[in-house]
Amino acid sequence: MGKIAVYPGSFDPITNGHCDIIRRGLRLFDKVIVAIAVNGTKSPLFTIEERLEMLRESLKDMPGVEVDTFDGLLVDFVVKRQADAILRGLRAVSDFEYEFQMALMNRKLNKKIQTVFLMTGLRWIYISSSIIKEAARFGGDTSDMAPDIVCKRLRQKFGVPEP
Ligand code: COA
Repeated sequence: MGKIAVYPGSFDPITNGHCDIIRRGLRLFDKVIVAIAVNGTKSPLFTIEERLEMLRESLKDMPGVEVDTFDGLLVDFVVKRQADAILRGLRAVSDFEYEFQMALMNRKLNKKIQTVFLMTGLRWIYISSSIIKEAARFGGDTSDMAPDIVCKRLRQKFGVPEP
């Protein structure tokens, strides 16, 4: 069996930055399971079903990607899916502390699971799901930051007319 990575997150919604990490993750792993955390601490804009639909549509051209959800501990999901590693993206120094803490906690919970970090592409360094939602809420153009399906669903959510 090839190497499998789990790429976890809220994906509320998926951005071009996430897509970049997944695409590059596929050069290291035979399979990347993109997994939405159901019990996240944030109040999401999109339901799990809506996020799954956007993930599937955005990643449909990437063979080797699977989309799933998980509840509970990430390390338990990694074991359940017989994956080898957790894949995470780092955008800036500000991400480091949180990611470092999370990686160490996950290692404490299960020392067999490694976390692999990829630097986010320079183009996407300023992007986050929140900042895209904020721009879209007031009718801003997000077409260079997120997949088409996400931009469309954001316009629908906020009642912004199609361009
Ligand atoms: N490009 C652009 N933006 C990116 C990005 C990239 N490459 N990588 C992350 N982001 C953004 C996201 O859009 C998100 O933005 P937001 O805060 O505006 O929503 C932010 O960075 C971080 O989100 P994400 O990567 O989705 O992680 P998260 O913090 O929402 O999710 C979990 C964290 C779900 C992975 C983590 O809480 C978890 O594993 N939970 C399960 C419970 C558990 O096991 N806990 C113990 C481990 S500590």
